[in-house]
Amino acid sequence: MKFFAGPLLALVTLLPAPPPAPHGPAPLPYTADGSFPLPKNYREWIFLSSGIDMVYGPKASETTGHSAFDNVFVNPDAYASFLRTGAWPDKTVLVLEIRAADTKPSINHGGHSQGGINGIEIHLKDAARFPGKWAFFDVKPSGLGTLIPQPATCYTCHTEHAAVDTTFVQFYPTLLPVARSKATLSPAYLKEFGPDPISPPPPTKSPNPLSPP
Ligand code: HEC
Repeated sequence: MKFFAGPLLALVTLLPAPPPAPHGPAPLPYTADGSFPLPKNYREWIFLSSGIDMVYGPKASETTGHSAFDNVFVNPDAYASFLRTGAWPDKTVLVLEIRAADTKPSINHGGHSQGGINGIEIHLKDAARFPGKWAFFDVKPSGLGTLIPQPATCYTCHTEHAAVDTTFVQFYPTLLPVARSKATLSPAYLKEFGPDPISPPPPTKSPNPLSPP
């Protein structure tokens, strides 16, 4: 059977190389005028955090006098990539959903629960399209996000104070430890707050009842 090896090898080397495997995330679905449609299923994405009445600048509760929740979601592929690398891949889409904080619906007599949507904003990474790689969109009731052009306070505050690549990872508890361990915290954040502004919880003496056995 030895005599087959030569011709077989020649045949294999003559075969055209397979086309390169498609790689990288799919392009983002902008409309012709450059708007960005709110992804219909963003509520099925990865939930990063919910802040209530956070005060860091002009926002719903300060401008309208109403209490509000900020819910942040990210597309699952970008989340998985962040867990591996501590950094956001190109085509990351983050959605900030602002909901009214209701006080007394149903049987509730204290605290707050989430009510109707007051506003939705998008922060996305598309390096080929935007000079600063990232862009903000304000979502209108139609569901279309309008680009907020530079300069705007959105860009300044996120660049100067956010923990990872202009995103506020210091407020996303499942991601901050990843950014720390992968050393991806931004120089601006480290300068402002140091490497460990939020201490890890103290070690528990008894086993954590919430951990699996
Ligand atoms: C003074 C600082 C400041 C300004 C100005 C600001 N933000 Fe933010 N933004 C934050 C903080 C803090 C968070 C994270 C916590 C939260 O709100 O839940 C955040 C989170 C976000 C997120 C979630 C994703 C991320 O990047 O972490 C979006 C989307 C967002 N902001 C959009 C906007 C838009 C649009 C504007 C301008 C109209 C804006 N922001 C202006 C501080 C700011």
